[in-house]
Amino acid sequence: MNLKMKVNYLLYHYFAKKLPPSNIQPNIGQKKIRYFFAKSLISHMGKNVNIEQGSVFTRDLIIGDNSGLGINSKVTRGVEIGDNVLMGPNCFLCTESHEFERTDIPIIQQGFKDVKSIKIKNDVWIGQNVIILPGVTIEKGCIIGAGSVVTKNIPEFSIVGGNPAKIIKKRDKSDNF
Ligand SMILES: CC(C)(COP(=O)(O)OP(=O)(O)OC[C@H]1O[C@@H](n2cnc3c(N)ncnc32)[C@H](O)[C@@H]1OP(=O)(O)O)[C@@H](O)C(=O)NCCC(=O)NCCS
Repeated sequence: MNLKMKVNYLLYHYFAKKLPPSNIQPNIGQKKIRYFFAKSLISHMGKNVNIEQGSVFTRDLIIGDNSGLGINSKVTRGVEIGDNVLMGPNCFLCTESHEFERTDIPIIQQGFKDVKSIKIKNDVWIGQNVIILPGVTIEKGCIIGAGSVVTKNIPEFSIVGGNPAKIIKKRDKSDNF
């Protein structure tokens, strides 16, 4: 990390991240301020991205045009988010997991499994308090209901809910679900 990135990192975490949510009035340009500092810290950030108050991400994040990270949401290494993706508050996109094969030593001493990337395709709405587990791909046009825990890939235009998340209905009416 060069000096400019270190300064931006500090300004994002100790200033921009703490500004009010993007749609709160009076608007002091908090969305643009967060965008400015986050852009230099993120591998690819599209146009008009909404990095919300309190959100945490890693440098390898890829996020497309008009998408966002929800208030207090967290994404770990290896996450790819397409265009026009909405994310509610308190979501957790988790690509990491602990090793736990052995029983003769504590889990804390067993290290981590390999990162399994998460892909969110275009035009997806992720509701509030959603958890998406390692290796999951959510295809285009899906809605992930509030409070869902997504453990498996979700086919396009599905509306899912629950823990583990199951298909509730399809947006694509031609699909005979
Ligand atoms: C997923 C969602 C969009 C579905 O809305 P809908 O199409 O109007 O669905 P309905 O209310 O008709 O519910 C259909 C069925 O799914 C169930 N269901 C709806 N949302 C659910 C959820 N989040 N988790 C589990 N089940 C859910 C309902 O209980 C109902 O079950 P039933 O058929 O057995 O009675 C909506 O419920 C939701 O979770 N929205 C997210 C809201 C949110 O997080 N907003 C803030 C962030 S931007």
